[in-house]
Amino acid sequence: MRKKIVAGNWKMNNDLAQTETLITELKAQSNPAEVEVMIAPSFTNLWQAFNSLKDDSIEVIAQNMHFAESGAYTGEISAAMLKSLGIKTVILGHSERRAYFNETDELLAKKVDAALANDMRVIFCFGEELADRKSGNEEVVVESQIKNALFHLGADAFKHIVLAYEPVWAIGTGETASPEQAQDMHAFIRKTVADTYGNDVANNVSILYGGSCKPSNAKEIFSKPDVDGGLIGGAALNAADFYAIANAF
Ligand code: PGA
Repeated sequence: MRKKIVAGNWKMNNDLAQTETLITELKAQSNPAEVEVMIAPSFTNLWQAFNSLKDDSIEVIAQNMHFAESGAYTGEISAAMLKSLGIKTVILGHSERRAYFNETDELLAKKVDAALANDMRVIFCFGEELADRKSGNEEVVVESQIKNALFHLGADAFKHIVLAYEPVWAIGTGETASPEQAQDMHAFIRKTVADTYGNDVANNVSILYGGSCKPSNAKEIFSKPDVDGGLIGGAALNAADFYAIANAF
C-alpha cells in the first residue's frame, strides 16, 4: 500500500522565532492517522525545527541540497550535512529551483543520485508550464522530466522516491488544477512508471499534487484514486489550514 503524505514547503519564509511559533501551533494539532505529515523549513531553521519536533510524528525535511558530498561549492548544503542533522527526506526539482536557479533534468538526476546514495528519501517535483498545457503538451513535458531525472534508477530505488506533480501555472497563483486534471495527470504518471518498472513499482509510488492546494479544495483532490497527498506551499504557513489539508483524506 502506498503512503499518504502531506508535506509543507515553507520556501523562503519564517525566521527562527517565526519557525518556533508555527511549530508550537502545529504541535497543538493532532496528527491524522495513516498520513505522513512533513514540513520543510529553510536550512537555517532545520536544526531548531528538528529538535522541537523530536517527539512528534511531523517529519522535518529539506527543500533542496547539492549533489556533491563536500567541497568548494560556496553557499551550498550537502546530503551528508542534512543527514548529520537527522534529516531523512529532501525535496528536489521544485519549479522555483528550475526557473530561478536554472536546475535542469541533468543536474536533478545527479542530486537524486546523491540523495539516494545517502539513504535519503526524495520528493521529486515536476510539472508543465501554462504554455505547455495550452498547447496540449503537458504529458510530453511531464514524461520527459520524470524520465530524464529518474529513469536511470533501478526499480528498488523507487521505494525511496515520492513524485510530486506541480503544474507551474497553479503554484502560488490561487488557480488549482481541477480534481479531474490532477487525476488524469497522476494516472498518466503512474502508467509511465508502470511501463518501465512494472505495476508493482507504479502502484507503490506515492504521487502528490501541488499547486494552490488549500482546505477548500484538498478533500476533492485527495479523493481521486491516483492522488496520494499534497505538497503545500502558501497554506502550509498557517497551522490550522495545513492540518485541515492533512485531515482532508
Ligand atoms: P502553493 O505552492 O501551495 O503556494 O501553490 C505549492 C508548492 O510550490 O509546492
